[in-house]
Order: sequence, then C-alpha cells, then structure tokens
Amino acid sequence: MAVRVIEVEEFDLVVFGASGDLAHRKLLPALYHRDADGQVPENARIICSARRDYSDEDYRKYAREALEEHVKDLDDEHLALFLNRLHYVKIDVASGEGFDDLKTILDERPKVVRAFYLAVGPDLFGTICENLGKAGAVNEHSRVVIEKPIGKDGASAKALNETVGAVFKEEQIFRIDHYLGKETVQNLMALRFANALFEPLWNAAHIDHVQITVAESLGVGGRAGYYDTAGALRDMVQNHILQLLCLVAMEPPESMNADSVRDEKLKVLKALAPIDEHNADRLTVRGQYRAGASAGGAVPGYLDELGDDESRTETFVALKAEIANWRWAGVPFYLRTGKRLAQRVSEIVVQFQPIPHSIFDAEAGTITANRLIIRLQPDEGVQMLIMIKDPGPGGMRLRQVPLDMSFADAFKVRNPDAYERLIMDVIRGNQTLFMRRDEVDAAWAWIDPIQTAWASSKDLPKGYTSGTWGPSASIALVERDGRTWTEDDGN
Ligand code: BG6
Repeated sequence: MAVRVIEVEEFDLVVFGASGDLAHRKLLPALYHRDADGQVPENARIICSARRDYSDEDYRKYAREALEEHVKDLDDEHLALFLNRLHYVKIDVASGEGFDDLKTILDERPKVVRAFYLAVGPDLFGTICENLGKAGAVNEHSRVVIEKPIGKDGASAKALNETVGAVFKEEQIFRIDHYLGKETVQNLMALRFANALFEPLWNAAHIDHVQITVAESLGVGGRAGYYDTAGALRDMVQNHILQLLCLVAMEPPESMNADSVRDEKLKVLKALAPIDEHNADRLTVRGQYRAGASAGGAVPGYLDELGDDESRTETFVALKAEIANWRWAGVPFYLRTGKRLAQRVSEIVVQFQPIPHSIFDAEAGTITANRLIIRLQPDEGVQMLIMIKDPGPGGMRLRQVPLDMSFADAFKVRNPDAYERLIMDVIRGNQTLFMRRDEVDAAWAWIDPIQTAWASSKDLPKGYTSGTWGPSASIALVERDGRTWTEDDGN
C-alpha cells in the first residue's frame, strides 16, 4: 500500500537535551524517518543543543551512531542528507549561556515555524522557557513541546504550567503523551467514530466492563532514580492510561478539531468517581516487584536495583475506576499497569454483556459474552470475539472464535513510531493529540487523593515475583466482582 505523505511547512526545530536518551532513542530516529519519507521541507533545520562542547560535525557523528543503533534499513544516501540538516549550539541551560547564540541562528529565518522541544527533565522546563523569553527567541511562530511528567501532583503541575505559560500561550504549548500518537490509539477513534456498529452498544446497557492493561516485562533499570520519585500511578496512570480511558469513554466529539476532542476527554476525567482514603483499600492495589525471572533470565527485585530497602514506591498498580455519568454508571473500568510483568502487552478489552436468554440446550456448550480487544502492542490489531456454530455435523455445538484483524498482516507498511506523528503535528500546529492544561489538572485532581490515601496508609505495596501478573490482590480486585483479567491468550 502506498504511503501518503503531506509535506509540512518550513521549520526550525530546536531540541534541548539533544545528547540525552529521548533524543537518541526516539527523536532523531523519528525525524530521520519523516525526512526519508519526504515530509520534511528542503530547508528545514534541526538545531540540537546540549551542554557538551560539540561542533556540528561532532554532533552529526553522535547522531549517526544513534540512528545506526535505532533505525532498521538505514539508507546511506539519505542519512548523509539528514545529518546535514543537523546543527549544534552549546547551551548551558542553568547559567543561560548560549541562548543568545541560538537567537542569532533563529533570527536568520524569523518567519518559519519555530519549535522548541524540551527533551530534558521537567525541573528544567521553567528555566529554559524563561531564558528563551529573555533572549527574545520566542515569536508568534513559536511553539514549545514538553514531555510528561507534568508535575508530581496538581500543585506542582499548576506551578509548572504557569511558568511555561508566562512565555508561551496555551495554543503554543504541546504537552506530549506519546500514547496518543500510537497507531492503534488513533484507530480506537476510527473504530468508534467511523463505524455505526459500535456506538449504539457503547454504554452501560450493553457493556459489562472495560479493562485497560499496560504491562511491561522490563524493570526500571537505569531509570530507578526518577522512577522512585514517581511510581506506576504517576508514571503511567495519570497520563497514558487515563488518556486511553478517555478515548474509550468520551462522547463523540463534534469533529476532530483539537478543542472538540479535548472538551470531551475533559468531561470524562471530571466524571471519574473519586478514590480517596475512604475507598482506596477496596479499589486499588499497589505492588512492588521482587526478584524473579524475566525473558528466561534471573532478575533482581526493585529494592535491589534501587539500592534502598525502604522505598514504598509502587511498580504495579491495579484500580477499579467508575465514570459517574449516564453512559457509564455501574460499568467498572479496571486499569492495571506494572513493570516486570509476565509479558509486554498493552490492550483495551471491552467486555459486552451476556445474552439475556439462551435458546440452545446444554449440549451446545457455554455461550461466552462478546468481547472486543484493541491491542496496542505488540502485534497491533483489533479482535472481536463472537460465538459461532462449530462447523460440520454433530449437532449444534457453539464455540467462541476471534474475528481477527492484525494491522501488520493487513497493511504492509512500516508502522510509524508515535513520535513521528506527534512531531509533525507540532510543526503543523495541530493540538488534537496533545493534552490541554485543564486535562492535566483534571487528571491530577483524580490521582492526588489516591496518592494521599496511600501515603497515609500503614500498608506497604504488595510484593510480586518478577515475571508474574502482579500481586494476587490484583486478581482478587476483579474476581470479587465475579470477573477475571483477560490474559493475552484470547480467553
Ligand atoms: C513512559 C514511562 O512514559 O512510557 C515509562 O515513563 C514506560 O516508564 C513507557 O516504560 C512505556 O512506553 P511504551 O511506548 O514502551 O509502551
């Protein structure tokens, strides 16, 4: 299938933290791919900045190594063209040194889109914005991209948003949640709003419950320092999982216009029933991984990796959320995420209600309720589990089969990384897939009381062996309601 590429307008993209992990693993490969696909205009410049004393040539060598490591099928000719787009400016963010040099370079093209990508820790967002403002580098064509975590609670998020907002207008601020750029997450919107089939059934009358699982097999590894200050609730639920929940639960927006979509997501966040010290024990489970086996090898526990026996940080969380509105009242949304789980799998499971009455006799077998599985990773695709008659003679025997749609099998195109789409959306000025400030605030307003309840509880996170599906209490959370988690075996 031919790839359709729409060239974006002329731009200068400034990457702060250009020698960091995000630039290395994600941003440089994403930009290379968009360029190789012909989406980047001829004179676009990518201005990379960090504290190191690099020349343009040194940085291009660094970037070449990053691309050799992270891009399959690198094309030598194209690589040379791409590397030529890269320029380097040394900037010491803390002292403010280098911002004037950056401004001089940017002033060569005052009329092109000017995007600042802050691929640095959130503690530097404010300082960078202030320095950009002071240097006079921000104009009406500018936009700024910030990554999560946006704060560590509602109050710190507010402070951070205010500092960034003192220099950039809200429509110039792009808060990335990379889950929104994933192909299947986009597909969730297509599935819901480009098909007439689902909408009439998409409510409490027909849906029994929804499960959202984002399971990772890796541990925290080298990120233990950051992770210990966050934990699974802040690192994954406040952003990625709540965004997925919003896309499943929101009312149809009037269009794909950024504010229409974000208005609807915001309503869902505001309708989440509170979890606090009165019900956190019943509705949440925290876990922390212990030593075990992952990918066939022995792995240490979280506390050993961290080098601190006292940490109460959760590496697993399961929650039972409810959305208190007409569409969803009484439908549980079971959410879970964790590190060092049995496998890497992210999926949304929509479990429909059972049929009201069976016309078949017992020999036909059990009739299992329909289930829609939207798999984000790996093997992106959509599966609808339906009942059919077992083919052939032998009477009426029923069985459940998947109507299976694997995107990799169906479309022979490379699946673009989320960052490719999101960076190009920044250049286009399209905010649909980025979080508005009030969404971030509303997400924290739901998360903060959970965090407070945990902090005041005497209970520690429950230990779970690496390579399993988390603490048994997570299984009990769902089984208490007469339901089970769907593992990735289609059952
Ligand atoms: C990040 C989290 O936002 O998402 C990480 O900080 C997590 O802890 C990652 O591993 C998961 O992203 P993906 O795209 O690999 O599912």
